[in-house]
Amino acid sequence: MRDTRSGNACHKTSFAEANRADSGFDPQWRDDLGEKHAELAKRLETLVPCLEIPLHLAWIDAIQHLKRERGALIMAHSYQSPEIFHGVADITGDSLALAQAAADCGSDVIVMCGVHFMAESAKLLAPHKRVLIPDLEAGCSLASSITAADVRALRARHPGVPVVSYVNTSAEVKAESDACCTSANAVQVVEAMGSDKVIFLPDRYLGSWVATQTTVELVLWNGTCEVHESFTGREARHTRETFGAKLVAHPECAPEVLAEADFVGSTTAMGRWLERERPARVAMITECSMADNLRNRFPNIEFIKPCNLCPHMKRITLPNIHACLRDLRHEIHIDAAVATRARAALERMLAVGRQERV
Ligand code: 13P
Ligand code: SF4
Repeated sequence: MRDTRSGNACHKTSFAEANRADSGFDPQWRDDLGEKHAELAKRLETLVPCLEIPLHLAWIDAIQHLKRERGALIMAHSYQSPEIFHGVADITGDSLALAQAAADCGSDVIVMCGVHFMAESAKLLAPHKRVLIPDLEAGCSLASSITAADVRALRARHPGVPVVSYVNTSAEVKAESDACCTSANAVQVVEAMGSDKVIFLPDRYLGSWVATQTTVELVLWNGTCEVHESFTGREARHTRETFGAKLVAHPECAPEVLAEADFVGSTTAMGRWLERERPARVAMITECSMADNLRNRFPNIEFIKPCNLCPHMKRITLPNIHACLRDLRHEIHIDAAVATRARAALERMLAVGRQERV
């Protein structure tokens, strides 16, 4: 686990540089922006290198202006960089919260600052809205680990066994599934299938964690998250012993890491656990930006942040958000027949959530 803020900055800057030429906007250092966005600049001070703040403010100011002009709503996943999460997002959260908010929001244009499957989920639940993603290449190692043909082959091998797919999948894979789930509701969705055996796709680590929480037998696929699989049990132990920190881990981590954790849960559940437990010091065993994005909510907690970045999430930058709003690109389109079936799988997941709340 590396704790390097400069590593984070370098990575972002290289994408930002690549996008700047394309954006047609030349951000200028303006003294007045520091005053106009004083509260935001203060918030960013502890989260990004100080030298970057004036540049970020120029982009943020231009994006806020374009956003109003377009009547657009910007959504950002908890793994987005702090200047996006705090600077331009109207709605933030985990993948489930963002998908639901897309359906409920009043805006006709949604910019998804997340990865491709998240933009597709928003489009599925808000089919009449224009859903844009700043970079079409923002993928996910889990989503690319399985195809619709793979799901059909699994069904043929396990006739009659229902299929639950993690939302980190393409619309085509969702269309072949009985229900979707997120890390926040995977156990409830698996149990709601009413079967003693379920095919659970595609994350083998999330699947093996779910298997420890239920008596339902799970047939797993061999997908992994390239970010979470890079944590090791040894690193987790070392972090606890060296820093005396509580360990909070995402269920996409390997079982040996989860065995060390004080709490295992989705990105939203992690925030709720911190609210309840208020540890003096915590290590967030998940994507690097998560700790940054929680830090303002919990000023009395010391965060040890691993610098494991998701290269797909980090393809989203202020320059390409600006270009996305300016040119209304890149719009998500899903084949109508695929969309109808994929939406049914998402709706089934949401129905389980509604039953839980009754
Ligand atoms: P959440 O469902 O917790 O938002 O996680 C999505 C994700 O991509 C985790 O790596
Ligand atoms: Fe996919 Fe992992 Fe990135 Fe999440 S962190 S988007 S699961 S690659």
